[in-house]
Amino acid sequence: GNLLGSIGMLIAVGITALVGAGGYGPLAGALLGGGLIGAILAARVAMTSMPELVAILHSFVGLAAVLVGIASYLDPGVVLSGTEMRIHEVEIFVGVFIGALTFTGSLIAFGKLRGQIRSKPLLLPGRHLLNLSVLAASVYLGYRFVGVAPLSVQNELFIMTGLAGLLGIHLVMAIGGADMPVVVSMLNSYSGWAAAAAGFMLENDLLIVTGALVGSSGAILSYIMCRAMNRSIVNVIFGGFGADEGAAPAKSKGDKDGKDQKVQSVTAADTAELMREAKSVIIVPGYGMAVAQAQYPLYEVAQLLRKRGCTVRFAIHPVAGRLPGHMNVLLAEAKVPYDVVLEMDEINADFPETDVVLVIGANDIVNPGALDDASSPIYGMPVLEVWKSKTCVVMKRSMASGYAGVENPLFFHAATRMLFGDAKKNVDAILDALRQHDSQPPDA
Ligand code: TAP
Repeated sequence: GNLLGSIGMLIAVGITALVGAGGYGPLAGALLGGGLIGAILAARVAMTSMPELVAILHSFVGLAAVLVGIASYLDPGVVLSGTEMRIHEVEIFVGVFIGALTFTGSLIAFGKLRGQIRSKPLLLPGRHLLNLSVLAASVYLGYRFVGVAPLSVQNELFIMTGLAGLLGIHLVMAIGGADMPVVVSMLNSYSGWAAAAAGFMLENDLLIVTGALVGSSGAILSYIMCRAMNRSIVNVIFGGFGADEGAAPAKSKGDKDGKDQKVQSVTAADTAELMREAKSVIIVPGYGMAVAQAQYPLYEVAQLLRKRGCTVRFAIHPVAGRLPGHMNVLLAEAKVPYDVVLEMDEINADFPETDVVLVIGANDIVNPGALDDASSPIYGMPVLEVWKSKTCVVMKRSMASGYAGVENPLFFHAATRMLFGDAKKNVDAILDALRQHDSQPPDA
């Protein structure tokens, strides 16, 4: 897919250079500069920072649509009149509106994903009214803009650009951390529509088709993600959902007698022992596995256990990690066979019959509060029901919360054992313990 995309871009750029009017000097400068920055950024980015890169790239598409729109208004290139002229003005107005909204919204998403802007939703009083007013004002400005003598209504275009930019900021500021994946995918869709609008302005069929493809696939992906998280897409777009800042430590809720429940911790050697005795094991990877890059030794652990006759499977939550399919890619990289990697719906009913569950660097996606705590910000999101297994080992470095910043009662559950430390180091230690045991003579 990436290769086909690159070839497509090469053809598009080549044709543009061949047929495009204007000097080759500026074009070569822009191509070299942009290509170089893009290549360096893409080569350096860590897999875990991918959503940020995607967000900032969306902002460029939005900015490009704004610039193309304004340039095409100030210098249309061809002389249009009558209906053609009006259609062109509508294209410009709509394109600039979507572009400005995508530009600022993506910048805010970038800041939130990097942790430079707090992930807690900003809920201004009467925010829906505010959004509607901006939308109504933009429609009114559009009404004044279309069909009037060219260049006499520049201010309407510029004021609308500012308003759409503010709307983008406000819409994304109102969205909490837990909904950011859907927002990035929505912005992806918006950037596609912005590109399609630019295609109309430039009468460029290729841009229209690619823009529409990105726009509709982004919209479908957003819908699928919302369904996986049991969220309404309208709620996500208009915001208000989300949690407090991340990294708050999980607190014990106390047991029925009012006494604090204790966290039970285990060592890597204990975990290896548990796994050696298990007949069935399910491994649940999350974002922490990606950070630690623990998938390679994890695969070896799975292989050793399978050789011993144990059934080992991987359970993938639809929003595990930070990208759709994030865990599948990492496991495929480590050569884990596809047939033991199961989606949440395929495996969720099997936890009660499972001896050991290994939760590796996952948190929100295994939070029982999502099912039974109506006050939890992630209430309603389907989760992997790992606590129903006989023993559940949770590997993470501390008691800190995950992406949504929500406490996780799983850590205090009677069947849970916490294995603290870096996931890669701990999986390596489990692997060593398993190998050592296997290399000992049977009577040792
Ligand atoms: P999280 O809830 O973010 O939990 C990850 C856990 O990994 C953290 O609690 C952290 O705990 C632990 N961790 C981090 N580095 C580690 C390391 N080196 N070794 C061991 N543990 C480590 O992840 P999740 O369960 O995968 O859930 C995904 C979350 O991200 C959801 O809230 C989802 O909505 C959101 N999200 C998803 C996507 C997509 S599309 N997948 C995109 C953006 C956001 P410690 O700090 O204690 O180690």
